Amino acid sequence: MEILFRENLARIARFKTPHGEIETPTVMPVINPNLNFLDESTLRSYGVQAVITNSYIIKRNQRLNEDALRHGLHSLIKFSGPIMTDSGTFQSHVYGDIEYSNKEIVDFQKAIGSDIITILDVFTEPDESYNSARSKVIETYKRLKEIDFEDKIIAGPVQGSIYPDLRRLSAYLMSDALYLPIGGVVPLLESYRYSDLVKIIFNSKVSSDFSRPVHLFGGGHPMFFAFAVMLGVDLFDSASYIKYAKDNRLLYSEGTRALNDIREFPEWSPIHGKYTPQELLHEESEKRTRMLALHNLKSIFIEINEIKERIYENTLYNYVEEKARSHPALFKAFMSMINYDTSDYSPLSYKSPFFYYDKTSLNHPIIKRIMKFTENYISNSRHTLIISSKYWRPGVKNENVIKNIVECTDFNLLVSWNGIYIPLFLEDSYPVQQLVSSGLNDKKLEEDYLKRLKSINNDIEFYEGEHYDKRLRDYDTEKINTIAMFQFNINERFFDKSNIIKSKSTGHIRNIIEDNNIIATMRNDGYLTLSIKGAYRLLSMKPWPGLRVVVDDESGRFNANGYNVFFKFIKSFDTGIIPGNETLVVSEDDDLYAVGKAAVSGIEMYYYKSGVAVKVHEGVN
Ligand code: GUN
Repeated sequence: MEILFRENLARIARFKTPHGEIETPTVMPVINPNLNFLDESTLRSYGVQAVITNSYIIKRNQRLNEDALRHGLHSLIKFSGPIMTDSGTFQSHVYGDIEYSNKEIVDFQKAIGSDIITILDVFTEPDESYNSARSKVIETYKRLKEIDFEDKIIAGPVQGSIYPDLRRLSAYLMSDALYLPIGGVVPLLESYRYSDLVKIIFNSKVSSDFSRPVHLFGGGHPMFFAFAVMLGVDLFDSASYIKYAKDNRLLYSEGTRALNDIREFPEWSPIHGKYTPQELLHEESEKRTRMLALHNLKSIFIEINEIKERIYENTLYNYVEEKARSHPALFKAFMSMINYDTSDYSPLSYKSPFFYYDKTSLNHPIIKRIMKFTENYISNSRHTLIISSKYWRPGVKNENVIKNIVECTDFNLLVSWNGIYIPLFLEDSYPVQQLVSSGLNDKKLEEDYLKRLKSINNDIEFYEGEHYDKRLRDYDTEKINTIAMFQFNINERFFDKSNIIKSKSTGHIRNIIEDNNIIATMRNDGYLTLSIKGAYRLLSMKPWPGLRVVVDDESGRFNANGYNVFFKFIKSFDTGIIPGNETLVVSEDDDLYAVGKAAVSGIEMYYYKSGVAVKVHEGVN
């Protein structure tokens, strides 16, 4: 996978198949090889890039079997783009044993020219016992290992019922395959058990090889797409567009409606302007099914496009937050999703402002990271003062009071922010400054958070209007040092005797200069970009491997001249790297080549093989 854009575990990415590239997230419509009633140009006009069909059905039917072997799968299905084939596992789940072995069905998929070939995995049921699910996970892995991959894209489904550790084990083992579907989930999708799905997807994803496309088998209803993508799913297949159509039901991104129950088709629907719902009800069934299938396909791709736009602008979390209210089962899924901490995958800042609705918004990974920092920030022996909103609110402060407290004390200074407490000095950094808030703080939560902070440092009190008069420190120097502590995860002061240059028009910090050298500049999101001088300092302050990627000498020579670091040249790296944060590019002897911004988190760094890993902004040369 090559990553184009990302938001935590969600990504817009591309991968190659023998019949062309696929840009994810996307949906593969299920094509029935017996009756394919949507032609390629219609499918493509809806945004379809790839389709999925069932090799078991083709193999069992003499006519289809011969046709596929003689002319190839692409001719049989009449689709020239990437085609994935499934193996018959689902049929064995529904009807019991099937008549082919794993090897036979895989060889058949190879012979007919499938682009993505699925092994005959063993379906684990949601209510299965742990031991039984475990042996199916192991058997599925054995079946993967008995296959000769040749140069094919083999899909190795992740099984494991609803047991988190089995999903993790299975995802780890099956990552030997180049493509990772998450299987055994259809019964959960059908019964709206979305919070179990969240658990399954999260555990499968975090134990998988991140360079593998992740597919949710059978997850074809658009109401759950955004949740799944947010947890790292790249592809879906959909039989639902046709199944629901046959049942006179319409898909919408928030749910399903019966043709019988609606007054009008929405304007985006391909049926709009052609039929009224009443007229369509009386149309002959084949035509009606076709029209409803087109409506459903449209709905699916509208949702996929919206999700991609959301990843691009970094608001997928908000979108999921919004969608959570469209069904109680989705709300429950959202509430279980926010219990998983994905802050390790979260970028330093987001393109869009932070939306605060109520205390639930505080589960956003970027807030979890700031809360962890706050707890670390006060875990010293110093006195901590909380400045109330009377003196400081986002964007509004009583300059004189705040300046007096900052410059005449050496206290840890916190401010109240949306019902939690955060360091005052992050006031210009994302998301403190780029905030759109309802202002609906939760008093109980605020009290509880204060208790938690007091358990770390009991010496905390609220500012009561005292005036201090001994000048001890400089406001801006404190600010840049606190930002550096947060950004570089350090406990010492990064800047010393700096000359801080501010913008004349906005008053914001711009450049930080020491001994006539620029050490750092302030980005628009209130975080620091290091110059090469600054990078040398970070290198000396952070013990190896902190915030480093190690590259081979050949790459290093390029990086030293300011060229980007590609994944394939990375030899080792720090797992604590944060996407969008400063990252040091060094040799195996820890000599600095360059400094740049990481494209992915340190946890993911290992997996990717193509694309830019660190966007270099200055090399040593
Ligand atoms: N289709 C729906 N679920 C599954 C599954 O678990 N495995 C396979 N191979 N196909 C599926």
